[in-house]
Amino acid sequence: MRNKIVAGNWKMNTIVRDGVALASMINNELKEVELREDVKVIIAPPFTHLTFVSQVVDNKKILLAAQNCATEDAGAYTGEISAEMLKMLGCNAVILGHSERRAYYGETSETLIKKTEQVIKNEMTPIFCCGEMLEQREAGNHFKIVEAQISEALFHLSEEDFAKIVIAYEPVWAIGTGVTASKEQAQEMHAFIRNFVKEKYGDKVAENLTILYGGSVKPNNAKEIFAEPDVDGGLIGGASLKADSFIDIIKAI
Ligand code: PGA
Repeated sequence: MRNKIVAGNWKMNTIVRDGVALASMINNELKEVELREDVKVIIAPPFTHLTFVSQVVDNKKILLAAQNCATEDAGAYTGEISAEMLKMLGCNAVILGHSERRAYYGETSETLIKKTEQVIKNEMTPIFCCGEMLEQREAGNHFKIVEAQISEALFHLSEEDFAKIVIAYEPVWAIGTGVTASKEQAQEMHAFIRNFVKEKYGDKVAENLTILYGGSVKPNNAKEIFAEPDVDGGLIGGASLKADSFIDIIKAI
């Protein structure tokens, strides 16, 4: 059975003091929530918060993710943070290839091949983001774009390593815009991704693959999106910055 995941991507928000307070609130409110065994909750604060946040959350209930990592092991790479450094801080996962990183920091399939390898080598879960821009959907190219993003960065992996990946489908036009993909649009793309993975890696890997939806998920739309058969949870931006709304989204899974 595949895992369900609700992951909060804090992006570049909160200073440490406020981030620790937010993590504590999420941790406290989550104590009251009965989570099914297949449900995992992840938060991805900025790098600078990870040490402090790890001290205030119950790591059996809340897993920690980073929002990016370096392509290399170590060395003269000013400003970079390696996957090993993140592992040593207690991270369980790393978000890779978010559309903001692709758009503003030149992240490409080539860099993502290396980052994915770093994350897997350090025994963390890559949360690999993909998704088309509005023009690409309007031109009818959305399936092609997502197929290329996934195959270019991930299809060199062995079956064993691919089985460690979580995919997040995040249509760029839905991120931070308040416009969510309809549940039909989300389901259609998730089913497409699962099928595409099945053709490459077979039934078992495809069936066990967790595919998250991201893009303006809020407490009032989470339930209907999560109810779709190929949607296994969400990657939540804006609504993960308030404990109440994040907890409401977790309850929707
Ligand atoms: P949003 O962001 O929920 O604010 O749209 C989602 C994301 O970028 O992961």
